[in-house]
Amino acid sequence: MTAVVVSTSPLPGPWLDQLGETFDVRIVDPGPPPEAFRLEVAEAEALISLLTVRIGADLIAAAPKLKIVANYAVGVDNVDRAAAAARGIVVTHTPGVLTDATADIAMTLLLALFRRLIEGDRLVRAGGYSGWRPDLLLGRDPKGKTLGIVGPGRIGKAVARRARAFGMSVVAFGRSPRDPDDPDDPTRVSFDELLRRSDVVSLHVPLAPETRHLIDAAALAKMKPDAILINTARGPIVDEMALCRALDAGTIAGAGLDVFENEPAIAPALLDDDRVVLLPHAASATIETRSEMARMVCEDVRRVLSGEAPRWPVPAERSGA
Ligand code: DGY
Repeated sequence: MTAVVVSTSPLPGPWLDQLGETFDVRIVDPGPPPEAFRLEVAEAEALISLLTVRIGADLIAAAPKLKIVANYAVGVDNVDRAAAAARGIVVTHTPGVLTDATADIAMTLLLALFRRLIEGDRLVRAGGYSGWRPDLLLGRDPKGKTLGIVGPGRIGKAVARRARAFGMSVVAFGRSPRDPDDPDDPTRVSFDELLRRSDVVSLHVPLAPETRHLIDAAALAKMKPDAILINTARGPIVDEMALCRALDAGTIAGAGLDVFENEPAIAPALLDDDRVVLLPHAASATIETRSEMARMVCEDVRRVLSGEAPRWPVPAERSGA
């Protein structure tokens, strides 16, 4: 019998259609309500999931034939990997391919805040531009400022590379020591020192129990009053209410957010604040990147269903639920 592949969404590019030439590919809305999805997953040997779909122990228990969960993301916090491992189900993801796109957006948020891009756009559209003035919308130069990277992995180092090209110096806090052979790898400092020294703090850690609310009221209080926070990683790494209070109190000067604690809901205080730039979890949203992510998940599904090892299994040491 032809193996069933359930995908929780259509994907960009030709890859899912090509997979359908060999397997019984079904695009199934995961709900709510979840009942129809569960019935389909009960038949499936492969599940292609978006980061917005929780693949919990209960779903895995209801999928006796499942061999692979191919997550259409590099982050895998939506998948209960322990439950998958206990059943011998391989979990794959899409590392590497979205590094540059994500680093570009982190840098874009930084520049948008430093140069007050969104404020300028709003002013012009509202008819508020009445001519050049020496004091109109003065921002700040990135040159000479310090960027603190929390999580100097692939994406963190790519952001560091970009920031240096803008004349910034870079420090980082992370689990791994600095690689002396990698010129992109920033000098390590403690978490507290990074918060105290940085003009920009940019987050690049996976979401895991130990990183949930890593940026809380205490962390925000250690930042400089003119510093900004950039989050292109996962929303719950930041305590969003504490961030709103810190902005309100002037504890920090601004934030660039691509992700939110209770996505897609956003704290109303952030919506009304000109010192905050918001994006709809779009850091990897380029045609090239999203198509390549689709190719990777489909290739790993094909491999696992053909009895081969996947190319992009989630490493065992990677943290995340
Ligand atoms: C990921 O891959 O984890 C991003 O959040 C979406 O591309």
